Amino acid sequence: MVKSPLYGVLGTALVATAVLVPTSAAQAVVSPDISVTNTKAHLDQLQSIATSNGGNRYTGRPGYLASANWVKSKLDTAGYTTTLQSFSTSAGTSYNVIAEWPQGDANHVVMTGSHLDSVSSGPGINDNGSGSAGVLETALAYAASGQVPKNRLRFGFWGAEELGLVGSKYYVNNLPAAERAKIELYLNFDMIASPNPGYFVYDDNPAGNGARDDLTSYFTSKSVQTEYIDVQGRSDHAAFRSLGIPTAGTFAGAEGIKTSAQATKWGGTANTAYDACYHRSCDTISNLNLTSLDRQIDAIGHMVWNYAQKDYGPGTPPTGPNLLQNPGFESGAVNWTGTSGVVTNSSSKPAHAGTYKAWLGGKGVTSTQNTGQSVAIPATVTAASLTLWIRIDTNETTTSTVYDTVKVQVVDGATTTTLATYSNLNKNTTYTQKTFNVLAYKGKTITVKFLGAEDSSLQTSFVVDDVALTTS
Ligand code: PHE
Ligand code: ZN
Ligand code: ZN
Ligand code: CA
Repeated sequence: MVKSPLYGVLGTALVATAVLVPTSAAQAVVSPDISVTNTKAHLDQLQSIATSNGGNRYTGRPGYLASANWVKSKLDTAGYTTTLQSFSTSAGTSYNVIAEWPQGDANHVVMTGSHLDSVSSGPGINDNGSGSAGVLETALAYAASGQVPKNRLRFGFWGAEELGLVGSKYYVNNLPAAERAKIELYLNFDMIASPNPGYFVYDDNPAGNGARDDLTSYFTSKSVQTEYIDVQGRSDHAAFRSLGIPTAGTFAGAEGIKTSAQATKWGGTANTAYDACYHRSCDTISNLNLTSLDRQIDAIGHMVWNYAQKDYGPGTPPTGPNLLQNPGFESGAVNWTGTSGVVTNSSSKPAHAGTYKAWLGGKGVTSTQNTGQSVAIPATVTAASLTLWIRIDTNETTTSTVYDTVKVQVVDGATTTTLATYSNLNKNTTYTQKTFNVLAYKGKTITVKFLGAEDSSLQTSFVVDDVALTTS
């Protein structure tokens, strides 16, 4: 039996406003245009910090702490959760500034960083005011964009890189193993506006990885040719790399000499250093190529925006006790509220385990049903997942039209959030497990709810069993 055209039209019209896109759907990500004007203003600020503090921003000198405090205050104002992490070095106390955007799955962290310190001989505007200003502006632009990241974005501004990657090593060595494991990628930006620029990409892993390739393709799409360079652990990504965390980065060149072939493809001057002021007092606000800066910050933006949405999978749900009562429905509707008859041991649909389950839909007449349970998620948890098993069978034959749906919802006071919508198009007659991150509800009492809706013919059965809300 096929639905009449009129029926199809009506059905579509009725559900069109109600059906939400599943949160797991791939979202098209547009790359931002990171403002070179704003980034240049950050560089002016770093120059003036150096100028008013003896001409440098070196570890243990006031120009470094002033740089760190200034970066931190910009990120605080934008809504980041920030930390000033201090550590000692042979040149005195230094600091890392760590900033995390408060949204996104904390089990999947995408980290972007740059060193904020200069050498003692100068203000360090290309090395590495440029990377710091670019990463800072990208973080500020992300905060202002209203994007909701799938993953957790974290930014690091390292102290004492010039003393041997001291800050980044201190950071990774002081991360608990479980926290290290959550960092999916570290992106490094050190010297991105060299006055005679090259366009180098690296990852310190000659076999390559996805992120370096993404940088290469991004530049190619902007008609900028790149070269792979083995930087031999000369910047902060090496600290992450040594723990097995994938890394990638870009580099406009330091003391190395531009070849004639490179001058042909990139412009600039052959047989001259990429940055003749590298580690010298002349690495000032005049020591920048703004075209390089502009291209490089857009590449940072491209990577941050895209990796924010990258699908790293649901991860392993935390293994703490199940906070739901009667989670497999084996005591019938006990602890579950909603439409009577939804929790059933009817022999016509198999349970995932035992005999009882929640059967939404299956009637083939216009109707809605729901079942739900209230649960308090402690404020102190660091991970919280909702998992469930679902099987879907249907008499609908369409491969394109949604007629019947079930929604997995979280009711938080007056706000109902749909975590996923499944429909007759998701027919799947073996049970599959779904996982949702519900950490955003820590400290709240929420209702986990399943809401089924059918149209007037051709049943779809959504059978849910063995629901768990676990935390750690
Ligand atoms: N980290 C080096 C410095 O700060 C510069 C560099 C960056 C070298 C990236 C190679 C690759 O002096
Ligand atoms: Zn340096
Ligand atoms: Zn550097
Ligand atoms: Ca059961």
